[in-house]
Amino acid sequence: MLDIRDRVRNQALQAKIMSAEEAAALIKPGMNIGTSGFTPAGYPKALPLALAERMKKEPFKINLWTGASVGKELDGALAEVKGIAKRLPYQTNDAIRKSINDGTIQYLDLHLSHVAQMSRYGFLGGKVDVAVIEACAITEEGHIVPTTSLGNSASFVQSADMVILEVNTSQPLELEGMHDVYVPKDPPHREPIPIVRVDDRIGTTYIPCGPDKIKAIVPCDLPDAVRPLAAIDDDARAMSAHLTEFLGSEIKHGRLPQDLLPLQSGVGSVANAVMSGMVESPYRNLTVFTEVIQDGMFDLIDAGKLDFASGTSLTPSPDGLKRLYANIREYRKKIVLRPQEIANSPETARRLGIIAMNTAIEFDIFGHVNSTHIMGTKMMNGIGGSGDFARNGYLTIFFSNSTAKGGAISSVVPMCSHFDHTEHDVDVFITERGVADIRGLSPKERARVIIQNCAHPDYQPMLMDYLERAEKATGFAHTPHLLKEALSWHTRFLETGTMKK
Ligand code: COA
Repeated sequence: MLDIRDRVRNQALQAKIMSAEEAAALIKPGMNIGTSGFTPAGYPKALPLALAERMKKEPFKINLWTGASVGKELDGALAEVKGIAKRLPYQTNDAIRKSINDGTIQYLDLHLSHVAQMSRYGFLGGKVDVAVIEACAITEEGHIVPTTSLGNSASFVQSADMVILEVNTSQPLELEGMHDVYVPKDPPHREPIPIVRVDDRIGTTYIPCGPDKIKAIVPCDLPDAVRPLAAIDDDARAMSAHLTEFLGSEIKHGRLPQDLLPLQSGVGSVANAVMSGMVESPYRNLTVFTEVIQDGMFDLIDAGKLDFASGTSLTPSPDGLKRLYANIREYRKKIVLRPQEIANSPETARRLGIIAMNTAIEFDIFGHVNSTHIMGTKMMNGIGGSGDFARNGYLTIFFSNSTAKGGAISSVVPMCSHFDHTEHDVDVFITERGVADIRGLSPKERARVIIQNCAHPDYQPMLMDYLERAEKATGFAHTPHLLKEALSWHTRFLETGTMKK
């Protein structure tokens, strides 16, 4: 077995080092398992693989609660042996997505800032039975030094009856000191979160635990299964250029300072491209207050444009991970990792005045956004933190390509087939075609700006025709719709393979 004794600094705890198989035997059917992990970063790997092997011989299910999506060794491996009854709060794994959409797994798609407190309040079907946390090291006092993400780990450890730690030797010890662990008290005892600048530190560098709760310590050397990012294409470059120009105009009009406000950037290829694009922009002394720290942010640090980044996980591409580990002493001066309850807190987003930038699957002419459902029924990933930031930011921007599936789908539709963010939450839409700034506009005014500036020319006449007929039919109602026709674009796609007539 891998020697992890130098990372387990509490001598007494060394007696609890055991194999993943032995630790997996502590898990009982039906338990709520709360794990570390946020994106494929900082999640346990050896224990879930051993648990999946056990489930092959002795089928049973557990409920899996994480920070967000995790790597394939955790939810992927357990889904493949049909070992998950309920999954929350976010996922990006193909096997999980398939099981959610064929009814095998019950899925709770939650605002990520809500999860820790919902679990403490007991809203999620019992409490956390076992917290399984990836650790870089264990301190002399039996506290936990986390790895590449913090997610819900601290709250899960606080509430769990039992803690199993996976000490991962592939994670560099220089990660120690990058975390700022703070779990708010629950109402009526909650106090203000005292963050007024992105680099404020308000907690401990470790997850408080103590030796008694720790029942097993498992060695592991599997690295985070980070994934390559899609190459930055012309559409993403165009969106990034539109953003730079739009922000410049905001500065000119006195609505943003020269160094902007803290940036939040969502997940996925478009979001990463937008951040990378900021390298070419004239902006300096930038700050980031976000969830996921992706390659684009390392680009900005290297270019000397980013002063500080606060997030809850480090999720670079495979090349980005090598770059992070090679330069970790420098990057750690400019990065802090917080629990997602703090990173995504509505309170901090509103106080700091975040520029919230997320990606939509589709949005409608009146400004509603669908971030989660394909054709209104099939779960893609989940809302993630997009709602935490969109509702509470200073300036809320959604990006999307104007079309999907080679032009057969318009991302701008008469009515969204599912709603995650409403007209009340969004300020600006950006597609490769342009920018729709809908602040201060009524629904009918918004519709014209969205169609003209963001929709693809192939679909603009169809959208205008819908709007004008809906206005006539409803006598120019506040939000004019043709209810029988509002979702006909989606049904046409399902029946014919295209939204075009
Ligand atoms: N209708 C149907 N499918 C669509 C679509 C639409 N209007 N728009 C996009 N898609 C499909 C794409 O074709 C692609 O499918 P594929 O994987 O089969 O090729 C898939 O959705 C992803 O689209 P892509 O353009 O690659 O975007 P992305 O990687 O930037 O991800 C989201 C976009 C919306 C799925 C992703 O950002 C997400 O899950 N967001 C919700 C969570 C979130 O915002 N978190 C951030 C909080 S900090």
